[in-house]
Amino acid sequence: MEWLNGSRRRWASLLTLFCVLCLLVTPAVTVKHENFKTCDQSGFCKRNRAYADAAISTSKWQSPYTLDSSTVKFEKGVLTGMVTKKLVNTDTKIRLPLKITFHESGTARVTIDEEKRQKGEIELRHGSKARKERYNEAEKWAIVGGTAVSTGAALNKDAEKGSTRVMYGPGSKFEAVIKHAPFGVQFKRDGETQVKLNDRGLMNVEHWRPKVDKPEKEVKEGEEAVVAESDKDAGEDESTWWDESFGGNTDSKPKGPEAVAMDVQFPGYQHVYGVASHAGPLALKETRGGDGKYSDPYRLYNTDVFEYEMDSPMTLYGAIPFMQAQKKDSTVGVFWLNAAETWIDITKSTSSANPLSLGIGGTTSTETHWISEAGLLDVFVFLGPTPQDVIGAYGELTGFTQLPQQFSIAHHQCRWNYVTDEDVKDVDRKFDKSKIPYDVIWLDIEYPEGKKYFTWDPLNFPDPIAMQKQLDDHERKLVAIIDPHIKNEGNYHIVDELKSKDLAIKNKDGNIYEGWCWPGSSHWVDCFNPKAREWWKSLFRYDKFKGTAKNMFVWNDMNEPSVFNGPETTGPKDNLHHGNWEHRDLHNINGMTFHNATYDALLARDKEEDKHNVRPFVLTRSFYSGSQRLGAMWTGDNQAAWPHLEASIPMVLSMGISGYPFAGADVGGFFGNPSKELLTRWYQAGAFYPFFRAHAHIDTRRREPYLAGEPYTEIIAQALRLRYGLLPAWYTAFHEASTTGAPIIRPNYYVHPGDEKGFAIDDQLYLGSTGLLAKPVVKEGQEEQVIYLADKEKYFDYFDFWQYEGPGMVSVAAPLENIPLLMQGGHIFPRRDRPRRSSGLMRFDPFTLVVVLGNSGDAEGTLYLDDGESFDYQSGSYIHRRFKYQAATATLTSEDVGTAGKMTKEYLKKMEKVRVEKVIVVGAPDGWKGKKEASVSEEMAGKSAPSRKVEMEFHAKADGKAAWAVVRDPGVQVGGGWNIAF
Ligand code: NOJ
Repeated sequence: MEWLNGSRRRWASLLTLFCVLCLLVTPAVTVKHENFKTCDQSGFCKRNRAYADAAISTSKWQSPYTLDSSTVKFEKGVLTGMVTKKLVNTDTKIRLPLKITFHESGTARVTIDEEKRQKGEIELRHGSKARKERYNEAEKWAIVGGTAVSTGAALNKDAEKGSTRVMYGPGSKFEAVIKHAPFGVQFKRDGETQVKLNDRGLMNVEHWRPKVDKPEKEVKEGEEAVVAESDKDAGEDESTWWDESFGGNTDSKPKGPEAVAMDVQFPGYQHVYGVASHAGPLALKETRGGDGKYSDPYRLYNTDVFEYEMDSPMTLYGAIPFMQAQKKDSTVGVFWLNAAETWIDITKSTSSANPLSLGIGGTTSTETHWISEAGLLDVFVFLGPTPQDVIGAYGELTGFTQLPQQFSIAHHQCRWNYVTDEDVKDVDRKFDKSKIPYDVIWLDIEYPEGKKYFTWDPLNFPDPIAMQKQLDDHERKLVAIIDPHIKNEGNYHIVDELKSKDLAIKNKDGNIYEGWCWPGSSHWVDCFNPKAREWWKSLFRYDKFKGTAKNMFVWNDMNEPSVFNGPETTGPKDNLHHGNWEHRDLHNINGMTFHNATYDALLARDKEEDKHNVRPFVLTRSFYSGSQRLGAMWTGDNQAAWPHLEASIPMVLSMGISGYPFAGADVGGFFGNPSKELLTRWYQAGAFYPFFRAHAHIDTRRREPYLAGEPYTEIIAQALRLRYGLLPAWYTAFHEASTTGAPIIRPNYYVHPGDEKGFAIDDQLYLGSTGLLAKPVVKEGQEEQVIYLADKEKYFDYFDFWQYEGPGMVSVAAPLENIPLLMQGGHIFPRRDRPRRSSGLMRFDPFTLVVVLGNSGDAEGTLYLDDGESFDYQSGSYIHRRFKYQAATATLTSEDVGTAGKMTKEYLKKMEKVRVEKVIVVGAPDGWKGKKEASVSEEMAGKSAPSRKVEMEFHAKADGKAAWAVVRDPGVQVGGGWNIAF
């Protein structure tokens, strides 16, 4: 008995221990694969993969597409002609109008349509009201510039028979060689082929055809119906042409099969990047199976993928069908302008000039296969040769990221949810009490009454204005969520107006679409409709959305759209939008239209209504090419787990090279409770995301940094102070992004496109053009970090000036309190060294300049500065300086690189007292030993004033640490011209 009792007790304590452990360990959550299609379950993807398999396995394969030579015309930079597709068992030829446009920027565009659909000469099934054309409005949303047609593009008369050649681009260095039969285009730069379209013959335009009902075969019970091969149209798999079911939803497909596909080859290019967003490495993997490769193509179909998994080609919330290919010293790219569901297969092949060399010394090429469910075949080709040439040209087309308000690049504190206005005020006070800087606090879906956006819960948020006022006292902001689903409930003015004004998305029968989301039964605003966008604008007016103040901005979530009971958690493909376009045609743009409407609404709220000329801030979850113009994105619902922290770096880097640099991931992880170590490391990494927001799920424990306890709170606070100190450098990088499209955080290949060893590196990043190189720790218990230095250059530890020398791997100590951060020689970057509660309070703080001397002894850097808030910079209200240090004269100079506008003087006057309070020279020459002074001369009214002496300190090299010098208070204006001679 005694024994039994003892045993029971032991079991009981084991059980308790087990339960406690279960509570401590974050449950391993993982995506429900059965809710999302694989290529095999997506009819058009499966058909096109099968088409590719047939083409590749048949040595005699010939693509059935021909450009009819007699139709080819070239006029003013545009080539037109008729491509025909010959059907296998008949003489029928499907007519596919072709247009190749050569742009002044050096970008070429190949567009293929289908004549019958274009002319509306098709019949829709089920009495559908859908548009008959292939969707041709993607460009309306995505493209904003860079389309001036080249005046210099010209036919090359030397073209061989059966082909047309067009010389174009800068200095006519580019050439498009258009082969007529089978149709294909090769793009050359300096005579060398860089990109090939349809070279493998995988082009496929699924033409319209009427459904021919086959005679029913007599099938005995229990036997499967077998359709005779001769009944099938050229052996094609018809099973998913006319309707398709998945997860209990049936897509009625009134237009029949209409996919477009094409192979795009990059000969000699080993690496490809882009097609964001996926949770995987920056350098894209092969997708046709095999060791360490994916077996499904990369998918682009904006979806609310609950608990998404790591290292996967599965789709996520946003789609950017832009890909870059990289080989030594050459970058090229393609942009597949199509808004329908898209899959991209990637394979690589190695060829060798010498068959006996067994691949050694051979070149690797990358082959890609793009497959979209509907729409035009529309592809832009960029011939580089640098990563910036390609990203810049893509940015010219789709727009650069807006210059954001400064607060939005500072630290954001979010959780689902801060439950009352008092709660918000309390959190705000606690940040101050713990001296932790932050700029923005966020409200998730619990603040409105019953999830009815544009209202406040009267019990929990009785006085939102007082709450915003408290935030404003320290120049802080509020961001509140507004989703696109509108609660379907009587007496809710928003839904009443949505219905009465007829502005909602429709179902396939043309009635208002109803689905399920946070509020329960909901309708969705159709922002493709200009009237809906106008209406949306009116809703944000201060007198309409009562309780909102000027320091309130917006978060757009669930805009894929997320529909809890919809196919793959989104809208049915046969839903109808404004203009009767089917949802399938434009699905991937849907999120952007909503984001766009909100952006315009905030612009109108502040500009037209209030003359308050501030830049809007809107965060979006769903996005497409062009969304970067409207605000920030984040990577959605990640998990409080180390692999998610690790994945966040390549994911955010990938956004940067995809033209959408204002990106971040939920700091701390959305689902689950991070350990304190993970939380701390995440803040250190987050300090290097362009968009830096902590966020957590409603079921998680509170985790504001002041709750972590020591030493964690202080270490997190240090990471935050580092971010705040470097805000001038971040803001300068944002300015560069907003004028050139350059990424804000940059992967190795972008900075060192000649260094093949670094092409696959995606766990370290350069911040803008500052030369700052960070490699945050993303593994548990790790205390040392190995950083790859690509160039023969000096690098210095940011904190203690320890000197490293590239190229090669270097090891940096990384105990919990250290962020591995190096400074590359040859750069100058700006900083502000006085910690404050929020970035707004730093507006008139003085600057520190850090001059980092490398092997050449020279260094250079820039500072861009404006009020961080309004559009006045567009009228010249800004300071833009270039700092140069020249070894030959040991002089640091500040020169103006801005163009004066009508508000320049006024701004300079305002900033007159803002000075450079410190200049630090890292890697200072040994010869400065004993120097105690530097001399400063300032430009006054365009002339140099007599120089004056200022104090300088020199610190000699010690224990591997570089020599450095500091000039304290040189007394120069940040906006003025001056030089300091050392
Ligand atoms: C999903 C978003 O991804 C998440 O960040 C948010 O907290 C929830 N929706 C609730 O609004």
